[in-house]
Amino acid sequence: MRDDLVFFGLQREPFGKHFQVEDGWVEPSREQALSRLVSAVTSRQHAIVTGEPGVGKTVAVRTLSAHLADAHFRVVYVWNVSVGRRDFYRHLSIALGFEPKGTAAGVFEAIQRELRNGWVESRVHPVLVIDEAHCLPDTTLQHLHVLTNFDMDSNPMLSLVLVGLPELKDRLKLGVHRSLLTRIGTHVELARTTPDDTAAFVRNRLEYAGARADLFASDAMTTAHELTAGVPRVVGLLADACLRLAANKTERLISRSTVRQAWHSLPMS
Ligand SMILES: Nc1ncnc2c1ncn2[C@@H]1O[C@H](COP(=O)(O)OP(=O)(O)O)[C@@H](O)[C@H]1O
Ligand SMILES: [Mg+2]
Repeated sequence: MRDDLVFFGLQREPFGKHFQVEDGWVEPSREQALSRLVSAVTSRQHAIVTGEPGVGKTVAVRTLSAHLADAHFRVVYVWNVSVGRRDFYRHLSIALGFEPKGTAAGVFEAIQRELRNGWVESRVHPVLVIDEAHCLPDTTLQHLHVLTNFDMDSNPMLSLVLVGLPELKDRLKLGVHRSLLTRIGTHVELARTTPDDTAAFVRNRLEYAGARADLFASDAMTTAHELTAGVPRVVGLLADACLRLAANKTERLISRSTVRQAWHSLPMS
């Protein structure tokens, strides 16, 4: 256990990323984003999720899978996508649970068969979540269009959820990708947090870790928001650095000057 966590009476790491989604932080705009995503997927539509790095996109799609009943949805999560079409289909078939063998065309056929069989046999709707989708090469993106064209009973055979940086949407507006974009009915944009939400986020994570009182002075929190521009990942890194520094100084209520000092120890300062 880290000394600083012991100093503050915390039982676990407040800002780690290995928490259960039900222990995650929820505020109204995130809740709304999530419910739009759930309703897109449950009505068998496609969606795109965009936001700056660290705003909480991956956490949001993890939460999405937790909301979909296993009996009706099969969520396939693919994130290593800076690869060409061939490797992309290899990743996808592994995620679907079978070994990719043979030519690229053969693998693609096997994927289609797998999706169709899954649907016909158990009516389980596959949800293909592609994280970091802004890294998809053009050729792979074009092939996604083929996958989304693949209908049955005029309903899409799978829901595609593309997750990426804001430039993902700009890319989809260009050239051949426009036709893929017209098939996507929902765009969820995750914003940076407001000053109040930054404070609420930190309080939520500290309570999750076992804190019973505020550990940050309120002006310290304002400064933390300004420095991090409301990006939860950066807020977490800064707050973590503050815990260590304050524990070192035996400062019980983290002050604004500690926040500034901790900020300078971070690579993004
Ligand atoms: N809803 C949330 N609850 C708790 N922590 C969160 C939440 N959203 C984001 N975080 C924190 O911010 C970090 C970055 O979130 P992540 O979803 O990985 O961002 P992105 O995918 O947009 O780059 C997470 O590892 C987690 O520490
Ligand atoms: Mg992510």
